[in-house]
Amino acid sequence: MTTVPERLGVVGAGTMGAGIAQLGCAAGMRTLLFDPLPDALDRGAERVRDGLAKWIDKGRAPTDAPERLHLAGSLDALADCELVIEAAPERAELKRELFGQLSSVCGSEAVLATNTSSIPITSLASAASRPENVVGMHFFNPPPLMGLLEVIRADQTREHALQLAVATGEAMGKRVILAADGPGFLVNRCGRPFAAEALRLLQERVATHEQIDRICRLGGGFRMGPFELMDLVGIDVGFEVAKSFTELSFGEPRWKPNPIQARMVAAGRLGRKSGRGYYEYGADGPYRPENPEPPAPAGGAGRPVSILGEGPVAEGLRKRARAAGFELRAGGPADLIVDARSAPADPRAANGPLVAFCAPSSLAARGVPGAAGFHVLPPLDGSRLVELTRLPTSPAPVADTAERFFAALGFLAEWVDDAPGLVLGRIVCQLVNEAWFAIGEGVGSGEDVDAGLTLGLNHPRGPVEWGEAIGPEHVLAVLDGLWDERHEERYRAAPLLRRVSRGMP
Ligand SMILES: NC(=O)c1ccc[n+]([C@@H]2O[C@H](COP(=O)([O-])OP(=O)(O)OC[C@H]3O[C@@H](n4cnc5c(N)ncnc54)[C@H](O)[C@@H]3O)[C@@H](O)[C@H]2O)c1
Repeated sequence: MTTVPERLGVVGAGTMGAGIAQLGCAAGMRTLLFDPLPDALDRGAERVRDGLAKWIDKGRAPTDAPERLHLAGSLDALADCELVIEAAPERAELKRELFGQLSSVCGSEAVLATNTSSIPITSLASAASRPENVVGMHFFNPPPLMGLLEVIRADQTREHALQLAVATGEAMGKRVILAADGPGFLVNRCGRPFAAEALRLLQERVATHEQIDRICRLGGGFRMGPFELMDLVGIDVGFEVAKSFTELSFGEPRWKPNPIQARMVAAGRLGRKSGRGYYEYGADGPYRPENPEPPAPAGGAGRPVSILGEGPVAEGLRKRARAAGFELRAGGPADLIVDARSAPADPRAANGPLVAFCAPSSLAARGVPGAAGFHVLPPLDGSRLVELTRLPTSPAPVADTAERFFAALGFLAEWVDDAPGLVLGRIVCQLVNEAWFAIGEGVGSGEDVDAGLTLGLNHPRGPVEWGEAIGPEHVLAVLDGLWDERHEERYRAAPLLRRVSRGMP
């Protein structure tokens, strides 16, 4: 069994380094904190002590934890550390130089870890004299509060370094996940479609940024929509990350930056830090309205509706329609036919006003000029928002009937433009797809992907679990619908997702 280090070195006393040092002290390690700037070192040490004082008050750290913090005036002071975690600025040359210096300062068994969020660990390992002892330890901001640690194996990393990193993370109270080296490692890679697909939807004018954010919050249960998040992170930062993904992958189409990002950066609209990004951050009031309350479910009044299909969407809608007092009929005639099938055999047939599921195709591709379209994502129990769409040929009474029906089921309606999967379906199905690409490429396990996105990015559920709740038929219907209508490689389904959907793991 690997024991945790007694002596931990932390290089760089900024936001991340100070947080990591706090975790080390609280976990019982003698922690040496180094920063070349004396002021930065003092500020970092103060942050560690403040953080520990709060934890001691709450009983989350032993009272002697602050005594374990030692300030290092030079890298040489880290000579007898068993583990050194580097949290210096995100510049590859600076980090490579540090790994060279640490190799000559530290003992031959010492493990050298980096907290980089984007530089390939394999390239940093090659700057160390013992690359097999180099590993990635990617903490999330703020390290004392975020429950996740992503441990990344460079091509050269040996088992000892990996195990020491895992044991240290666990001693610090983290859920540790394992990732292979590659663009964004596991968490940031699997999280990419949240922003990337949102930008495509905006570019195609399927919906506005406010609508996309509201749909993600109310329909998907995300705490923040993608544009709010991009503003918070910094649009320039997101643009750089997207460019680095493209460079590292030699042009993977799913990861291309979006021209909207380039224009926003060129205009100086960088997000919260510049006072304006997708939203305006003025002194007067919040940048967006409060979430609207969904209507109370009621008002079916025995009216006949027919909900076609099997699976979680059809079943979830039938349950809510029954609770709202509608009479469910197997076929028409009915006040409304809700076709919730992911693979309709007779896409044009309807014996009454039709609202069609926009999973397998856009409404336009469905070829029923008089219909309206809808999309919701399972699980439906807590869902508060339905997306609706209409064509210029959709009669107003059909659109009104569809909106009234979903309102009676307790859904807020968001009218968006036509596309397979509409907004949320497209974003979430691409999250599920990316997860299965990553699993298929050996980047991490399904369990670790789910833990990574829920604990590291605060997603409401992991993409593997979500894919199961949605059902692979529905996920593939959206992806294949996008492929059929766009013929863009970014919408090709992950081979493993297709295999799993056929029951062949
Ligand atoms: N901030 C985040 O959200 C976050 C999340 C995950 C990973 N990271 C990664 O963690 C690392 C540190 O990020 P941060 O946000 O703490 O940065 P930061 O700017 O807050 O801190 C960096 C510290 O490194 C010090 N430093 C400068 N030159 C140095 C050198 N040659 N050797 C040692 N230290 C030096 C600086 O004085 C500063 O105190 C980066 O690689 C970053 O990509 C950051």
